[in-house]
Amino acid sequence: MAGKEELSYSEAIAAAGDAFHRFPLIKIQGVPLMCPIVHNWDSIWAFRPDPSDLLIATYPKAGLSLLKKMDPPRVIKTHLPFKLVPEGFWKNKCKAIYVARNAKDNLVSYYHFDRMNLTQPEPGPWDGYIHKFMNGELAWGSWYDHVKGYWEEREKRNILYIFYEDMKENPQREVERIMRYLDLSLADDVISRIVELTSFKTMKENPMANYSFILKPVFDQSISPFMRKGVVGDWTNHFSPAQTQLFDEDYKRKMKDADIPFRTDI
Ligand code: A3P
Repeated sequence: MAGKEELSYSEAIAAAGDAFHRFPLIKIQGVPLMCPIVHNWDSIWAFRPDPSDLLIATYPKAGLSLLKKMDPPRVIKTHLPFKLVPEGFWKNKCKAIYVARNAKDNLVSYYHFDRMNLTQPEPGPWDGYIHKFMNGELAWGSWYDHVKGYWEEREKRNILYIFYEDMKENPQREVERIMRYLDLSLADDVISRIVELTSFKTMKENPMANYSFILKPVFDQSISPFMRKGVVGDWTNHFSPAQTQLFDEDYKRKMKDADIPFRTDI
């Protein structure tokens, strides 16, 4: 385990200043993570959530910084795979929502994100990137292990497992599903407002959601915008027929033990 530097991911970016560069990956329990996260691993692993905290997990992105300074109930977002989530979340029976997206669109989105996020390792050429994804070499590790890890634990841990494609297809239905899970009862106009505010179009124009406040040496949105396309099926614009065949065959092998109903179009 790396030293005990109390440097969060965002603090590490700020500290890097002009000498800013893409962070190398270091493995924890076989999962490649960016080095500022690994440097803080002891405090992340020791994090004690409150039972009122809500965990939101997805493949992939940011960390758990600043949490110790915040009062519960908190919404805590993580990209850690299930096996690296601090145990306190499950001991305290915290609610958790996992958002999963089909592998090929997830891969395309991650590729463009790695091009513009200059803290992530260099993505390299597209064809090689597909192999890195299939081999679980990207930051936050294997997509296959990630989606399966939460899927297998969803009943035992009372995790609400939702799909990006379902949210795109019928956002109101999915918002209502989340409300039921959280034991919330909201008026119809409040639900409509949530649907409106969380639409791709609204979020793309919202500076807090489009990350335009993050400086260009960190997120270079001239390469690719953070809120890029927000659609299901963009993979068809990236994968060649040969790449699709190779990917699909490998996918069948890796996912044969999990019957997760992913959809690559809607
Ligand atoms: P694309 O690159 O396919 O556009 P994350 O927030 O985990 O980094 O995920 C980013 C991906 O989710 C991007 O996908 C982004 O456009 C999409 N996304 C974010 N908010 C969205 C929304 N409200 N509706 C649809 N897609 C959204």
